[in-house]
Amino acid sequence: MLDAGRDRALFDRIAEKYARKDLARSSALVRQRQLNLAVRPILASGAALGTIVELGCGVGAPARYLAGAYRSYLGIDRSEEMIAAARRFNTGNAAAKFVAGDAATIDLAPVQADLVLVVDALHHMADVGAVLRNTLRFVAPGAWFVAVEPQSANPVIQALRWARGRVDRSYSHEQHFFAPGELEELLRCHNLSEIEAVCEGYFSTPFAQVVLPVQGVAAPLAGAAVRLDELLARRLPATLRRLSWNVIIRARWAE
Ligand SMILES: C[S@@+](CC[C@H](N)C(=O)[O-])C[C@H]1O[C@@H](n2cnc3c(N)ncnc32)[C@H](O)[C@@H]1O
Repeated sequence: MLDAGRDRALFDRIAEKYARKDLARSSALVRQRQLNLAVRPILASGAALGTIVELGCGVGAPARYLAGAYRSYLGIDRSEEMIAAARRFNTGNAAAKFVAGDAATIDLAPVQADLVLVVDALHHMADVGAVLRNTLRFVAPGAWFVAVEPQSANPVIQALRWARGRVDRSYSHEQHFFAPGELEELLRCHNLSEIEAVCEGYFSTPFAQVVLPVQGVAAPLAGAAVRLDELLARRLPATLRRLSWNVIIRARWAE
């Protein structure tokens, strides 16, 4: 059972440091590209992003990365310190608001979200079913659900995550890695359809998580890793795509 109190205390403690991942060029460019990939099919379909609600928003970097593509953005995080950091991070963006609260219980009425976004956060949530049920209080008909989650099908990457947990004091152990297909099944059970899972991130993902000291070198390296990933995304056979670090999951609620 995930310990919500311990997870919240950890994110309260590391909030300021966490923001650095979206401030350093090398990590920010990988994180922005991942987000663009995640929402690209929605924009390509001609739909507007409209009102975005992001659950487990951290410092709310998507409000900055997607600026201009949405009407309003509301970031929710149960860590008060993360929300304070998000407000500082997005100073001057009148379209972005932040509220501290639990995604499983928060009441956002009268908000009507066109897109519910959850980046790297669902696996920290103790009861994802409760979160999905709660979203029904604030999603518009036909709203999109987009999540980015760690890929658990690759044992090498799982071993690297385990190793990171041993050395990185800012790493949360309150995580539940979804088995392949588990999250899709959960979404189906909560009446989401058009479910699509896309493997993402081979060489670029470590740059998104670690802020390297010499940005003059790190940023071009991160750029090269992104280009390599773009090539792999086109060329890798389907069976090898599971070697990715992440999975992007898209789904929709009924119209
Ligand atoms: C790994 S961080 C990811 C933050 C951000 N989305 C990003 O990609 O940088 C996970 C975040 O989810 C938040 N979180 C975990 N469970 C939550 C819940 N039940 N309700 C709201 N926020 C939650 C944590 O406080 C933390 O800020």
